[in-house]
Amino acid sequence: MSDPRIAIVGATGAVGGVTLDILRERAFPVGGLRLTASARSVGRTLTFAGEEIAVEETAPAVFDDCDLAFISATDAVSRDMALAAKERGCVVVDDSGVWRMEPDVPLVIPEVNAADVDAHRGILAIPNCAATPIVLALDALRRASPIRRVIAATYQSVSGAGAAAVAELDEQSRALLAGGEARPERRPQIAFNLLPRIGSFRDNGYTSEETKVLHETRKILHEPNLPLSATCVRVPVPVCHSAAVNIEFERPVSPDEARSLLAAHPGVAVVDDPESDAYPMPADCAGRDDVFVGRVREDSALPNGLALWIVADNLRKGAATNAVQVAEEIVRRSAWLRAGV
Ligand SMILES: NC(=O)c1ccc[n+]([C@@H]2O[C@H](COP(=O)([O-])OP(=O)(O)OC[C@H]3O[C@@H](n4cnc5c(N)ncnc54)[C@H](OP(=O)(O)O)[C@@H]3O)[C@@H](O)[C@H]2O)c1
Repeated sequence: MSDPRIAIVGATGAVGGVTLDILRERAFPVGGLRLTASARSVGRTLTFAGEEIAVEETAPAVFDDCDLAFISATDAVSRDMALAAKERGCVVVDDSGVWRMEPDVPLVIPEVNAADVDAHRGILAIPNCAATPIVLALDALRRASPIRRVIAATYQSVSGAGAAAVAELDEQSRALLAGGEARPERRPQIAFNLLPRIGSFRDNGYTSEETKVLHETRKILHEPNLPLSATCVRVPVPVCHSAAVNIEFERPVSPDEARSLLAAHPGVAVVDDPESDAYPMPADCAGRDDVFVGRVREDSALPNGLALWIVADNLRKGAATNAVQVAEEIVRRSAWLRAGV
């Protein structure tokens, strides 16, 4: 087929803007581009490949002349617009949590389960931005030994909550440094603080974010019973999610073997030289596509255990880069929507 005609829904948002960058950086074939957002953004223009493109209000008719849609807006928009696009023969790569666990929706990290793309029926999903880096590291390490259990604590940047949250961190930090008050409006104060709740609480005490990390990791790895416990924390960092992860294996895995497997895995880079103080940090990993792993060591509490530290740019590999890579797989496999599905 000729180059796909593309819609980006939520083009004015944190992920939508980076999706435009990634399409250009990876020279994705673009046969046409429609950019949509809420009615608030009508009148704005965005630039792609030197061309000014007017932002349109999101509506089903946008998909009439599109082959592929990236949806990065709200859950409600994803729920309605993914179906509207699919009905019009347009394949959807969705960034929200709405579709990920549906049985007929592939949840894909191309370096881990690219073949799952073939099973799509019009909608594909990318994982939660906290899950993606952890899954990539686990996929590398399970080549040494089956995994018995995983315990993760995440340190998630404010851009994971969208562009408005980044602006809030900026405003609150400036106000507090000037001797004023943070005046949080929509969520608890984030400047100079940590929020041990992302999403809503479930009956079992875990949050929706922590539950996503559990279920999405199992689905992508095809390990439906993998024991995993996550604690997800919002931290006052603009970009990049980090995680401290402790893994128990069935057999011993040495730190050296783990570093080799991680370094050999596509999409993973090892930064681990304690003697020269080299380990991944958000300020260094922002704007990069790899998932960075360091601080690899024997876990002193878990039998056959390893402890490690992971950092990845949540707007790139955690969202836009992964979504564009999924679209590349669709193109490569000619996995377009078949009539009648
Ligand atoms: N941020 C991350 O790290 C990350 C990672 C993985 C997945 N995701 C997912 O990606 C999606 C977008 O996240 P984000 O961080 O980019 O959020 P964001 O910065 O708040 O952007 C939201 C986008 O959605 C648009 N929008 C809001 N309400 C709308 C409506 N009623 N109709 C049409 N468009 C509407 C906004 O348009 P206006 O500018 O006109 O308001 C904006 O373009 C979410 O589903 C999120 O869960 C985010």
